[in-house]
Amino acid sequence: MTQDELKQKVAFAALDYIKNVPVIGVGTGSTVNHFINYLADMKGSIDGTVSSSVGTTERLKSLGIPVLDLNEVGELEVYVDGADEINPNKQLIKGGGAALTREKIIAAASKKFICIADDSKRVDVLGKFPLPVEVIPMARSYVARELVKLGGQPVWREGCVTDNHNHILDVHNLTILEPINLEAAINQITGVVAVGLFAARPADVIMVCKGEEIITY
Ligand code: A5P
Repeated sequence: MTQDELKQKVAFAALDYIKNVPVIGVGTGSTVNHFINYLADMKGSIDGTVSSSVGTTERLKSLGIPVLDLNEVGELEVYVDGADEINPNKQLIKGGGAALTREKIIAAASKKFICIADDSKRVDVLGKFPLPVEVIPMARSYVARELVKLGGQPVWREGCVTDNHNHILDVHNLTILEPINLEAAINQITGVVAVGLFAARPADVIMVCKGEEIITY
């Protein structure tokens, strides 16, 4: 199976979690794009979705799937999204697609966060994938200096402007042994909008596709 076929298979498996769920939180990325295609087949049985990015919103709308405002929906039953890295505690690195802030908001507002991925995303220790940090543009250099003090090597993702009109620093060379502490420390830096470390609020369910097998825990 190709990596894309693995993503498609796990996206299909996630449909088990959205039976009788009226409003579904929808993440961003190539794995979730497969999930959105399946959602289109059952759009008649849902009230709508809450979207984590402009890209996802456009895709949902193009398939005739209603997109609702999180403020009007309240708490979500289920949020389905991918990840860039997953550790054994269901903590994640996300934001490879620069959508981390809205993804984090939806994760926070959801009862159950289902993370779908191909098996290559599983790691013992987070940090090989550069950790995305969304920053207010004028704070970029200051935040970068503070991230160096935390042991990382921040690299500006040049040319990338987020859906919230901010910039992204990708922090290399981290071995994240204490994800909750690092998440809190980065959140404390003035000018940081959000860090793509989902540790204090990890996923609730991980579903990964490994060959023909779907591993769920
Ligand atoms: C988007 O900002 C990310 O958090 C994605 O959820 C993550 O990069 C997973 O993307 P893929 O499904 O494309 O691997």
